[in-house]
Amino acid sequence: MFKPETYIQRRKLLKKEVGSGLLLFLGNEESPMNYRDNTYHFRQDSSFLYFFGLDSPGLAAIVDIDENRDVLFGDDIGIEDIIWMGHLPRMKDRAREVGVRHTAARAAFGDTVRKALTAGRSVHFLPPSRTDNALVLSGLLGIPVKKIKAKASLEFIKAVVDQRLYKSKEEVREIEAAVETSQAMFLAAMKLAKPGRYEHEISGAMEGIALSRGMRLAFPPIVTINGQTLHNHSHGNMLVKGRLLVADVGAEAASSYASDITRTIPVGGRFNRRQRDVYEIVLAGQETAIKAMKPGVMFKEIHLGTARVMAAGLKDLGLMKGDGEAAVAAGAHALFFPHGLGHNMGLDVHDMEDLGENNIGYDKTVERSSQFGLAYLRMAKELRPGHVMTVEPGLYFIPALFEKWRKEKKFREFIAYDEVEKYLDFGGARIEDNVLVTEKGHRVLGPPIPKTVADIEKACHV
Ligand code: GLY
Ligand code: MN
Repeated sequence: MFKPETYIQRRKLLKKEVGSGLLLFLGNEESPMNYRDNTYHFRQDSSFLYFFGLDSPGLAAIVDIDENRDVLFGDDIGIEDIIWMGHLPRMKDRAREVGVRHTAARAAFGDTVRKALTAGRSVHFLPPSRTDNALVLSGLLGIPVKKIKAKASLEFIKAVVDQRLYKSKEEVREIEAAVETSQAMFLAAMKLAKPGRYEHEISGAMEGIALSRGMRLAFPPIVTINGQTLHNHSHGNMLVKGRLLVADVGAEAASSYASDITRTIPVGGRFNRRQRDVYEIVLAGQETAIKAMKPGVMFKEIHLGTARVMAAGLKDLGLMKGDGEAAVAAGAHALFFPHGLGHNMGLDVHDMEDLGENNIGYDKTVERSSQFGLAYLRMAKELRPGHVMTVEPGLYFIPALFEKWRKEKKFREFIAYDEVEKYLDFGGARIEDNVLVTEKGHRVLGPPIPKTVADIEKACHV
């Protein structure tokens, strides 16, 4: 939790941006794994956390802009809760820690909203990421659950995005602390990536390091020798020589800020010729992208620049042909690089995607493309100081996509299908770092994590 002034300032700015009405904030509730008292790890709603800082269930808040009044709703715990769960400070004291003077019982939240609606006042809410909260809003506002997201207040969303998107020094420190834990996780993974071990041994060891540092994982980890499946969350394979282990794992600091790092590790600690060739192309793409990160540059242009570098590398390898620039413009490179270059990160690993991807990464200067591959780019707009982005290009050999395109005779002028066929047992390679956009350029966050072929091989053999 930051100092009370941080939260006071954030809410003050929010009031100024939205102008009038009530802003509703619903904290998250516990989520049962099976029965009520056996719950998943509690994770607070990120916008609630950003503006009200308190990290526990049973809370809601209202910012009344017209009366310049912030109220936290929550119940003081009674003796029964104290017996089972221990002591919790009183709501008044907890509220003071985040600069809020007014508190009320949780049940009064609904009454306050109903009163405002009856008085004809405007009530703004954000699209809820959890169904429980969609149900609460639906009941209170008389909007069908399925329409809740669509009826959310665009002014409120934009005001939240305008703040959360630009990270302060104290936020960047939290992200860097998470990256520091990532460094330890990846150094361990490199040492462990030996033939005969199982993917779950590596993912378990990495998660253990996060837990042992009072952190958690920021998202379900990807630790797989089948990196060609982009979001592969199964960890049951045995590592075998000749495969690349793609590890895309993020830590979540106690403050809930995330890191999101990917490294590609040759099983057994030595890249073979073919692996090195492809890996070096991804690395060149990533380094080109990082170098280009600075205020005023469209992230979409950086994505396309990386695609061009990788297409040129693939042409040198004999896997692509023809004019590289034309190939990228047409989208032919997406056979190998079908996802976006990166996304914003902060309190969420894909920051604020619950508020609508286009509200985060697109604006009136840039529309989302419908082209395969480019359509997955979550951030396209101009970079500004304070953005924290992932930069995560990859190259993959996805047999099903290859077969489909070959059958459709797609981009035959750019893709050397007979050569690509020889790589269908390759898997994939991705490299990801977390980059802050600064006034003058950028800074890669956290301590360095081995990334060149030589450094990775060295780290595998310590
Ligand atoms: N780290 C997983 C993702 O960015 O989708
Ligand atoms: Mn990512």
